[in-house]
Amino acid sequence: MTIEAVINLDLGGPRINRHVYGHFAEHLGRCVYGGFYVGEDSEIPNQDGIRLDVVDALRALDIPNLRWPGGCFADEYHWQDGIGPRPSRPAMVNTHWGGVEENNHFGTHEFMALCELLGAEPYISGNVGSGTVREMSEWVEYLTRDGDSPMARLRKANGRDEPWRVRFWGLGNEAWGCGGTMTAEQYAQEARRYGTYCRDYGDNTLYKIAAGANGDDYAWTETLMKQLGPLGCRHIPGTTYHAVSVHHYTITGPNWENKGSATVFDTGEYYATMVSAARIEEILAGHAAVMDCYDPNRGVGLVLDEWGTWFDVEPGTNPGFLYQQNTLRDALVASVHFDVFHRHAGRLVMANIAQTVNVLQAMILTDPDTNALVLTPTYHVFAMNRGHQDATSLPVGFRTALPARPVGDTTLTTVSMSASRTDGRLLVSLSNLDAAEAADVAIDLRGGVVEAVEALILTSEALQDHNTPQAPSAVAPRPHDGVSISGGTLRVHLPAHSFVTVSGTL
Ligand code: AHR
Repeated sequence: MTIEAVINLDLGGPRINRHVYGHFAEHLGRCVYGGFYVGEDSEIPNQDGIRLDVVDALRALDIPNLRWPGGCFADEYHWQDGIGPRPSRPAMVNTHWGGVEENNHFGTHEFMALCELLGAEPYISGNVGSGTVREMSEWVEYLTRDGDSPMARLRKANGRDEPWRVRFWGLGNEAWGCGGTMTAEQYAQEARRYGTYCRDYGDNTLYKIAAGANGDDYAWTETLMKQLGPLGCRHIPGTTYHAVSVHHYTITGPNWENKGSATVFDTGEYYATMVSAARIEEILAGHAAVMDCYDPNRGVGLVLDEWGTWFDVEPGTNPGFLYQQNTLRDALVASVHFDVFHRHAGRLVMANIAQTVNVLQAMILTDPDTNALVLTPTYHVFAMNRGHQDATSLPVGFRTALPARPVGDTTLTTVSMSASRTDGRLLVSLSNLDAAEAADVAIDLRGGVVEAVEALILTSEALQDHNTPQAPSAVAPRPHDGVSISGGTLRVHLPAHSFVTVSGTL
């Protein structure tokens, strides 16, 4: 049976903020050290210690922003320990992630240099959990204040004359847990206090993001939305934070102690993973609905600043380093998330996959022994979807029911789609989540003429297939010939467990 869909090319929807294709790099395992940063003396080609093959691979994705330094690490990070000559920077214990020593060799200057190399905007997560208001306030001054001031002088003394531009500023992380174990009410007060003293210097305007809910904790979002304003002080215009965040991880196993393997799984586990991933629709819709009550004009942003799969670590690796392989299953988790992001473009202003290199659902894995770099199946989804960044989201309607299958006590819809347009181009993304059955889609393209369609497909024989240094392209995009267009109807064949993008000129 063919699924019949409709896309109205002339009906504009919201813009898909390019920042929903954002990234996240924490001082965790081999994400920063060994991933992004290898040090100036490394034999791996680097610029000031930053690994250049990683930069090149990420530049090809047009990554819009990078969140740093955590995560849980952000709330025990003291930025002044990470500036000045590296040999004299004090070390600390990374208590969340393996209890290893952090030498602070990758700090503010290194991170900003990385963002410059990537062409990405920095998103800095400040320390609310164990820091002070003064410490956070001075970090903003250090980074963004021009002219003469104590922190600007310190920055200049450390070799950087010009201030940097920093827009995205996180007021802590997971305040309900590793960021201070606070109640929503307590944290909202802290966010207001910290937010008040994070100043805009010159024409640098901060976009402050309050640490948000865990999954479907809508009450947390409601508390933050109630507390947004400055309580009528006429010297402090606007709100004390501009966005609220939320985190949702895709978990397969029955509990955190047993999350299942990233590469060894059966079809039942695969479907359980996809059900967990698909929950992002309900979670974003739930938070958006709460926000709509307090902010009907959608001035406040929703930021999903951590998402992705979380499996058991690879056997033999440090359990605190969260290193996992990445299969075609991960790619389909990503493609389904992006469809949801495109549908919620009116409220969702940013999303950050956790995490970019060597941690959780990574784009890039680096081999500590051979230094080889591997692009994961998830990387390829980001690449194939790149054209959605800043495009206009187009709603996709269906004339026939979408295929679905029972999974445990719920139902999984097995075909997912989203579409967007720019001035001259249509991009349609389609995922077939069924492990064994192909699907065919006929899309009635109305309100415009689409020509010269091209398609790419990401699939593989087995859902467990993944890329390694020995087989780096086992799962990689290939041209797809199962696509045709005639009489305004776009027909797409979707093999079992596949992700397809179709682009056409308008
Ligand atoms: O991404 C790994 C961790 O997951 C982050 O540090 C934390 O914010 C979340 O619990």
